[in-house]
Amino acid sequence: MNERTFKASDAQKLEDPARLEWLPPADVIGKLDLTPGMVVADIGAGTGYFSIPIAARVNRVFSVDLQTEMLGLLRGKLASTGLAANIELVHGSAVATNLAAASCDLAFFANVWHELDDLDMVLTEARRILRAGGRLAIVDWSPDRDHPPGPPVHHRIAPEQVRRVLEAAGWTVAPASPTGRYHYMVIALA
Ligand SMILES: C[S@@+](CC[C@H](N)C(=O)[O-])C[C@H]1O[C@@H](n2cnc3c(N)ncnc32)[C@H](O)[C@@H]1O
Repeated sequence: MNERTFKASDAQKLEDPARLEWLPPADVIGKLDLTPGMVVADIGAGTGYFSIPIAARVNRVFSVDLQTEMLGLLRGKLASTGLAANIELVHGSAVATNLAAASCDLAFFANVWHELDDLDMVLTEARRILRAGGRLAIVDWSPDRDHPPGPPVHHRIAPEQVRRVLEAAGWTVAPASPTGRYHYMVIALA
């Protein structure tokens, strides 16, 4: 936890119906090249805004979160989705996910990259859990939108900076793409 960690007491913000307009899950998911056999680690899953729709498209989702309160909220939503069998809740962190080595095809980080410390360790962990040919996807807030919703602008990380960190760690990075109204997505190959 650090001063940028999303507060569990703010969890209702993740469920705001307006979010479906400015960050439509379909816009994000459509860029992930998901296939039915895939296993996805949703790291910093929160209340499952992405875990749930991703689970409808793939074989299995590991929803990893540092905060048990967030996992509890996600557990509460699962019953009504019919997807509980496809989603495993995992109490873990981005640097120690508690997932098995080479167990995932995609490591997905939505709205959490700007909250993370030790990015080199995060990338080492992502590489460990990914199978050969696995990918990482980061969705985060553009720093050029100086208004709510979202974290303070000084917490936001430009996509160019994300690219530099990934490339320095040996990842092959595709050009960032604008996503939703306020976000970008960066996809990288391990
Ligand atoms: C802003 S919320 C985003 C939730 C979800 N990805 C979404 O977009 O709706 C960030 C989530 O990441 C989790 N988180 C923050 N730091 C983390 C870390 N180091 N490892 C795992 N989860 C973390 C927080 O507990 C919170 O649930």
